[in-house]
Amino acid sequence: MSSAGVAEDGGAGFDTVGCDMFPCYGNRTDTTRRYTLYMVAPVIPITKADTSARALPIPAAAAGAFDGTTLRDTRGRPIRDLRISVTDRCNFRCTYCMPKEVFDQNYQYLPHAEVLSFEEIERIARVAVGLGVKKIRLTGGEPLLRRGIEDLVAMLAQIEGIDLTLTTNGSALAAKAAKLKAAGLHRLTVSLDSLDDKTFRSMNDVDYPVDKVLEAIDAANAAGFAQVKINMVVKRGVNDHDIVPMARRFHGTKNIVRFIEFMDVGATNGWRMDDVIPSREVVARINAVFPCAPANPNHVGEVAERWKYTDAGNEDAGEFGVISSVTEAFCSTCTRARLSTDGSIYTCLFAQRGYDLKSLIRGGASGDALREAFIGIWQQRRDNYSEVRTAETAKAKKVEMSFIGG
Ligand code: GTP
Ligand code: 5AD
Ligand code: SF4
Ligand code: SF4
Repeated sequence: MSSAGVAEDGGAGFDTVGCDMFPCYGNRTDTTRRYTLYMVAPVIPITKADTSARALPIPAAAAGAFDGTTLRDTRGRPIRDLRISVTDRCNFRCTYCMPKEVFDQNYQYLPHAEVLSFEEIERIARVAVGLGVKKIRLTGGEPLLRRGIEDLVAMLAQIEGIDLTLTTNGSALAAKAAKLKAAGLHRLTVSLDSLDDKTFRSMNDVDYPVDKVLEAIDAANAAGFAQVKINMVVKRGVNDHDIVPMARRFHGTKNIVRFIEFMDVGATNGWRMDDVIPSREVVARINAVFPCAPANPNHVGEVAERWKYTDAGNEDAGEFGVISSVTEAFCSTCTRARLSTDGSIYTCLFAQRGYDLKSLIRGGASGDALREAFIGIWQQRRDNYSEVRTAETAKAKKVEMSFIGG
């Protein structure tokens, strides 16, 4: 057992902390109140050796349980999204994602041979789309660091009927925006945690200036990405002074800022509940300056809760969103599968182990065999980490977000 009391026997099939290991409290108010302990565990990077050794056995598909139309997990959730991490590397060291003390020059990134090729990614993506996936997001790490990323975009853009999007830190975006558009990328999300240069430089921890990211957003708009989403992870006492300035900057534009509650992803970011600003507080602070009202979700299971600015006489005041994984868990409608840089499927952002599809592919598996594997994986899925998160689960040895995709 780990310090968080999570089974590590490799065979029991517990793919996240929570679920069967911890009681499900269900009630979000109770969940919030239970955060009284601080995270005190030492930082432990999860290495490639760990993850390969911890691959879960791929469950057999239940005969007849999938009627060929909607593939559902044990909680009745369909599969709709595939988030693909195309590299575990990043040129930023955001303190909440890849802290420098862990991701230093000694950190062992995946060797090239372990990283899925574009052809392998496309093959898995096509299987997933055949099973109901409608949205594919390319992430990382920093996806624009992957050489030839626009070629992968072009390959995936050929798949009929999907929404193809990508999350980037913006550092290479000004140079690549037009190429990505030409390759067929539909949408873009840019991470931007502060408008205040000093704060931004210290949060990315590589002294990267905020102006460059703002220029990249302009470049993306100019290249035809009319509505860029902007992700701001909010940490109390670090960048919360920038909530209202961020809202102001993009108020009246088509771009949409989403304020994200700081999460205990991975095992290295020193998460504590005290650092989380609940989304309701974010909305209250913005509403005090720019009156706003809730808007209907674009679709069932949308991660962000939408808020529209209600300026009198201005129909184009725009909107912002809040993502409240900590205080308002949205596991009950979670339709997301994640494909790690080295080709494993993770059925939750907070998973500890994944299902190794790369070995199947490289072992010569047929299309049908891959499809069966995917069906089996999804049918047994029961993850609901954010509903059962405690200070204890936050200490568990979860895989890093840069490895399975944000
Ligand atoms: P859009 O279709 O562009 O709105 O995508 P999205 O709502 O999925 O947003 P995006 O992919 O940009 O995700 C925004 C952030 O929400 C991520 O970076 C995570 O911080 C968080 N997030 C996304 N998916 C999940 C999830 O399944 N679980 C949890 N806990 N957080 C998530
Ligand atoms: N909490 C919340 N969101 C995070 N991201 C990375 N780490 C965290 C965290 N600890 C998300 C941010 C970023 C994307 C790449 O991953 O939204 O924009
Ligand atoms: Fe890199 Fe994005 Fe993680 Fe920051 S949040 S370290 S930009 S992958
Ligand atoms: Fe989905 Fe996130 Fe809940 Fe995991 S914690 S089941 S990824 S919503």
